[in-house]
Amino acid sequence: MEKLCPLAAIENLQSKGFTLRGTKFFIVRRGSRVFAYHNSCPHMGVPLEWVEDRFLDYYGELIQCSTHGALFTIEQGRCIFGPCSGQSLQPIKLELRDENIWVDLP
Ligand code: FES
Repeated sequence: MEKLCPLAAIENLQSKGFTLRGTKFFIVRRGSRVFAYHNSCPHMGVPLEWVEDRFLDYYGELIQCSTHGALFTIEQGRCIFGPCSGQSLQPIKLELRDENIWVDLP
């Protein structure tokens, strides 16, 4: 595991993109819970965000792919609407320790 950033670096109910050692991924924060996924849509393998650090839909309740609008649950990364319905984002293991986010990259 390696230390990524303080939890406070990601605003509550927001998302943030990262590139670490060539791996592109993003984190979504909900209070003291954080979720991380590779930044690659299961539909066509492209990055999901439409603007830097914007991975969520208008309501901030689902992850949205900007290319064809697929929607994914924040907790599971499962596509519930769109061309890759039923498929999932690839999760990245992470932990919260002492208010810092630690990730386990392959
Ligand atoms: S590339 Fe993401 S929905 Fe098509």
